Amino acid sequence: MGKTIVTGGAGFIGSHTCVEMVEAGLTPVIVDDLRNSEERVLRGLEKIVERTLPIHRIDCGDADSLDKVFEQEKPTSVIHFAADKAVGESVRDPLKYYSNNIGSLFTLLRVMEKHGVKDLVFSSSCTVYGDTDQLPVTETSPTGAAASPYGYTKVVCEQMLRDASAADPLLRVVMLRYFNPVGAHPSGIIGELPIGVPNNLIPFITQAAAGLRDRLTVFGDDYPTRDGSCIRDYIHVVDLAKAHVLALQWIAEQQAPACEVFNLGTGTGNTVLEAVHTFEKENGVKVPFVIGPRRAGDVMAMYADTTKSREVLGWSTKLTLADALRDAWHWQQTIAADKASS
Ligand code: NAD
Ligand code: WQD
Repeated sequence: MGKTIVTGGAGFIGSHTCVEMVEAGLTPVIVDDLRNSEERVLRGLEKIVERTLPIHRIDCGDADSLDKVFEQEKPTSVIHFAADKAVGESVRDPLKYYSNNIGSLFTLLRVMEKHGVKDLVFSSSCTVYGDTDQLPVTETSPTGAAASPYGYTKVVCEQMLRDASAADPLLRVVMLRYFNPVGAHPSGIIGELPIGVPNNLIPFITQAAAGLRDRLTVFGDDYPTRDGSCIRDYIHVVDLAKAHVLALQWIAEQQAPACEVFNLGTGTGNTVLEAVHTFEKENGVKVPFVIGPRRAGDVMAMYADTTKSREVLGWSTKLTLADALRDAWHWQQTIAADKASS
């Protein structure tokens, strides 16, 4: 297999995917302007894989710059992670999200077309399922009623890819719908880098446990679930990263045109309170928390049917929620140690 452009390769999921790609003998070329990452991620990544990786610090929505990267690197495939992903910000500033998330995919498809690159793996999200009571969700569950502008950008991008692949039978596309990616690399060298106060549960738990936040607020304990808190499908980022390697290999094997969507989750839902208690048990650290009101826009429960990714890609998760929470805590401690020494 030739080189793979990895847009957003310095981000949370992209950096872990680059590690798994190198370990599988693939050749990632990172395209990331670090708008939501830092140089330390790139240094950490190279430390783990024990080699330097090609990195182009450009906006992948800038057609001329991306064209030059394709000219220079001559890739045969692309994984497109680059996007803005903060749900709350997307409500406040929707045009930023429509511009970057849809604009960058549009530009990428044009540049791929020009250079005859036909294989694409795209980062989608379970958010495309909106609020559903059909659980677990399968790839054929209804989509389109997303809860935020961010969610709608993924709905639109998926449709753009279906239309582009219908018009170009040589285009081979895999759209991966991630559930709730959590955890960090077990080395403690790379992990998630939330900017400011985290919106997502697990970074908030690790920061509360580390004393960086007074307490976690559990958003609601009056849902009709086993303990009243919301249910999500938390998937270890390393398991998620490995699925991208299998997706790239699967695409390369296809003789026929393809535009397939896969759920990437564990298939099991955990409540917020289960996540808190599992964290405490696994790490021997208390998480200060209070019960607060429900958060607007939250769905009660969401977890994946993973039959298709298991049967078609041969992928299944190996790591548990406890593994993810141990690795997330290890990563939190690395950040704290780095801060203390700088
Ligand atoms: P992240 O913010 O950590 O990584 C995204 C990376 O893309 C960042 O390094 C950022 O600097 C880069 N980037 C963004 N726009 C860019 C542009 N125009 N040009 C160049 N670089 C750009 O996010 P993540 O959690 O790794 O998410 C990766 C993908 O997965 C995104 O498409 C996101 O929507 C999707 N996703 C994430 C989650 C999640 O909870 N983390 C869940 C479902 C789907
Ligand atoms: C998880 C659970 C909260 C914070 C988001 C995006 C989704 C996808 C994955 C990108 C919920 C509860 C949280 C806190 C809490 N991303 N919670 N206290 O909302 O399931 O999904 O990330 O595509 O599109 O919406 O993830 O981590 O924010 O919340 O009680 O301080 O934790 O109510 O039940 P969510 P999350």
